Amino acid sequence: MSPKTLTAAVLLAGPSMLVAGFPHIAEMVAKQKLEARIAPIIPFPEYPGTPNHATYNDFDPKAQLVSTSGDHAWQPPGHGDKRGPCAGLNAAANHGYLQRDGIVDANSINTGLWEAFGLDKTATLFLQTATMFFDGDPLSGKWSIGTHSDETNSLGVIGALLGNETGICAYGHLKTEADASITRGDWLAPSDNSNCKSYPKFAQELEDLATSMTGGLITPPVLAQHSNNRKAHSIATNPYYFSPPYAGVAFTFGAHMFAFELLANHSAEHPRGFLTPEVFESFFAYERDANNNLVYTYGHERIPDNWYKRADADAWTLADIVVSTAQQCAAFPSNCQVGGNTGTVNSFSGFDLGDLTGGFITAAEELQDPAKMGCFISQNLQAEVPGFLDKTFNGAALTEVLGLIPTAFLPGIAGLGACAGIPAGRSVAEYGSQYPGAQIESSGPRSGL
Ligand code: HEM
Ligand SMILES: *[C@@H]1O[C@H](CO)[C@@H](O)[C@H](O)[C@H]1NC(C)=O
Ligand SMILES: *[C@@H]1O[C@H](CO)[C@@H](O)[C@H](O)[C@H]1NC(C)=O
Repeated sequence: MSPKTLTAAVLLAGPSMLVAGFPHIAEMVAKQKLEARIAPIIPFPEYPGTPNHATYNDFDPKAQLVSTSGDHAWQPPGHGDKRGPCAGLNAAANHGYLQRDGIVDANSINTGLWEAFGLDKTATLFLQTATMFFDGDPLSGKWSIGTHSDETNSLGVIGALLGNETGICAYGHLKTEADASITRGDWLAPSDNSNCKSYPKFAQELEDLATSMTGGLITPPVLAQHSNNRKAHSIATNPYYFSPPYAGVAFTFGAHMFAFELLANHSAEHPRGFLTPEVFESFFAYERDANNNLVYTYGHERIPDNWYKRADADAWTLADIVVSTAQQCAAFPSNCQVGGNTGTVNSFSGFDLGDLTGGFITAAEELQDPAKMGCFISQNLQAEVPGFLDKTFNGAALTEVLGLIPTAFLPGIAGLGACAGIPAGRSVAEYGSQYPGAQIESSGPRSGL
């Protein structure tokens, strides 16, 4: 049968017959549906972030080649070493650009991610600050790049009673980590619900989308479309899907951009980077089996040999994170809705942004303005941090970490903008009661894997 007669047969027979008798046709139809999903309102830019990146034209092979030998040789994580939902952090730890045990701090984040990927200090300072307050221990600055670890607790044995940090996945859900990731699962979904590990089917969807949009290269517009598809998938399959302002609107999308901006290879021919499926697979801990299916090994993310990072003079900055997140809102306005399903699939209900922001933002379109996006994130982080600390620490430790908000937290997020005079925002705990997926749990019996 030619594809045309197949389609005709599909139309005549109807969907129930398809699923029962011809599972491969059902698969094909599902795929076509995915590809036909609403196209962007205005195209997502080929070169997102600040405008300078679109014309960057230099390549210095010596400076951009990233070492994968000697101290930076690849080693898989050993017993007890932490790995989690972040392909970049896992790869950096496996090559000694971060602590190989996966317990990281400001020093390694600021130097290691610059050396390995060209992620600028404006970005690493911000990410380190937000993550150590949300998912780690602000007293020691340590946090786990995977699930909870006793090693992040600066207070030692007594401290076990005073603080229990989540790490960035499992019970770190909704703080930095959120649903509809590039390849990770939704923590509260009925199936495929590890938010630490990668699912081959989502990786394959991304590669298939790249094949249909560009012939194979994974580009920023492909990743932006994938992000939109993943949110649609979560709404259609996860009754508890929820997207908060920072983890859901900003961070998950920021990670989609990192996948190109920080993982693309560079050359004289492609000074602004190109990301092949093979390089993507190495960075995401995938190999292909004899049948050409993707096979994932937890924690085996790898910087490929002969890989060239972005140029220092073309670093990815905090401004780029904010601008590209705002560009997402212009191309895919529905990606920028705060809210979630209300306990059944396809029940997405957006939260009123005016209520959430004290009137600072009244409509999602305003988030297309990078200055407003920066202050929207800043406002939300400030609203969330006392509650997140309260769920993690007790007693004297709690008093101490709350005391660090003005001296360490606020300076660390100042790069988001001055935001003078904006009102206080509201925390998820306060506004999320109508969403069953918005309840924050800080510990529990699930392993996360
Ligand atoms: C302090 C710095 C960083 C922190 C705190 C961080 C944290 C995270 C978290 C929590 C996620 C899960 C997001 C979600 O639920 O969708 C994630 C995903 C991701 N991160 Fe990072 N990350 C950092 C730096 C990096 C770097 C330097 C890279 C690239 C070199 C990177 C690439 C990615 C990618 C590609 C994903 C998506 C993984 C997937 O969905 O399969 N990140 N990161
Ligand atoms: C990166 O690009 C250069 C130039 O095309 C190439 O020689 C090298 O093999 C590529 N690296 C990887 C890991 O694909
Ligand atoms: C800390 O959290 C982890 C992960 O949720 C949990 O297994 C452990 O029991 C908790 N420890 C304490 C002391 O509450």
